[in-house]
Amino acid sequence: MNTLLKVEKISVSFDGFKAINSLSYSIGKNELKAIIGPNGAGKTTFMDIITGQTKPDEGNVLFGERSVWLESDQKYQVVWDENLLMKSESQIALLGIGRKFQRPTVFELKTVFENLFISMKKNRNPLSVLFQKLNRDEKNLIEKILGEISLKNEQDRIAGELSHGQKQWLEIGMLLTQEPKLLLIDEPAAGMTSNERRQTVEILKKLSADKSVIVVEHDMEFVKDLECEVTVLHEGSILSEGSIEHVSSNNEVIEVYLGR
Ligand SMILES: Nc1ncnc2c1ncn2[C@@H]1O[C@H](COP(=O)(O)OP(=O)(O)OP(=O)(O)O)[C@@H](O)[C@H]1O
Ligand SMILES: [Mg+2]
Repeated sequence: MNTLLKVEKISVSFDGFKAINSLSYSIGKNELKAIIGPNGAGKTTFMDIITGQTKPDEGNVLFGERSVWLESDQKYQVVWDENLLMKSESQIALLGIGRKFQRPTVFELKTVFENLFISMKKNRNPLSVLFQKLNRDEKNLIEKILGEISLKNEQDRIAGELSHGQKQWLEIGMLLTQEPKLLLIDEPAAGMTSNERRQTVEILKKLSADKSVIVVEHDMEFVKDLECEVTVLHEGSILSEGSIEHVSSNNEVIEVYLGR
């Protein structure tokens, strides 16, 4: 599998407190991964570093692995397209990293379709959102996204009327209009009904067919249903990594997290 994001030995301190401690991590193209860990483990800070909100004191964050053919050596060499530490938040977003925060921030008075339309246009042409029409490709993309986020039948409803879970999906859809390569999603299941949680699992699994997804979540049932590799963070470092069965039988994980 090709690696899409590679984080090498990053550390960051806030007023002498090490929130992230020599953390290395990677995710492949079209891979779905979950991160769990107790409050204050550094999960959100880790996402802040990837998206450029926080710059680490040490380490590297590389994005977009490619192999190039070296004519002189007659072999392939791996190159990284971008060092994210050199980029601003908006540059990182444009490279194809979308981030979903916990609280949905949809336009409550607009319809589902309009929400997707506005977020599609705003980065492409911020000045003329109101005067633009959709071209065929854009319309097709919105149709595809409506299917992916299970809101096809709700497209003409006012977003403010949606359930909490549906608003979360709409916000994921708004990120999808930018066609990201990597999605970072912080605690999507919080406040959802169990039915919505199950649907969210299906949505995230489907999205990973053509993009990479990192999900931070506390709900163990949810993480189990994702059926993906799980990373347990504790005090800014990786405590355990592997299948949910593997990490949840680790004694240290039981002690610091599951046994709380
Ligand atoms: N900007 C900041 N300034 C100072 N301290 C911070 C800052 N951001 C995070 N921290 C601290 O770093 C630690 C890690 O916080 P973080 O929010 O990453 O944890 P988390 O794993 O997301 O926790 P939770 O499960 O509660 O969301 C905490 O002790 C937090 O107080
Ligand atoms: Mg957090």
